[in-house]
Amino acid sequence: MALRQIRYKDDEILSKKCKEVKKFDEKLAILLDDMYDTMKKADGVGLAAPQVGILKRACVIDIGKGRIDLVNPEIIETSGSVTDKEGCLSFPEVFGEVERPQYVKVKAFDRNGEEFVLEGRDLLARAICHECDHLDGVVFVSRATKFDER
Ligand code: CO
Repeated sequence: MALRQIRYKDDEILSKKCKEVKKFDEKLAILLDDMYDTMKKADGVGLAAPQVGILKRACVIDIGKGRIDLVNPEIIETSGSVTDKEGCLSFPEVFGEVERPQYVKVKAFDRNGEEFVLEGRDLLARAICHECDHLDGVVFVSRATKFDER
């Protein structure tokens, strides 16, 4: 396992669309582990592959309730709406108010290529939406309505 370099705001890789993961191999497992370590070290709750320079549809989330790896995630259901403060490891010191669904259901694959369905509410729903956005080259600052610089 190793830490990877986080890509920051003006890096054009953050606005690119990621490619579907086709091989569930050792390389993917290493990427996910490295992403998790990089996220933890930076004190984040989520990190997507493009944030470490890899244009693949993979992300890791840990809102304090355990690690979740999402490969080729697809949001299949959402409901409700919550506007709350949001940040991103690629935009340190920037926080903005973003509207997200209160509930999301996401279909994804784990590192072994096993499909699963996950439901998330509130912060978990927010994290899932935020990370899935990254895979489409969408960063939270483009959705934020109000900024709060710390
Ligand atoms: Co982010």
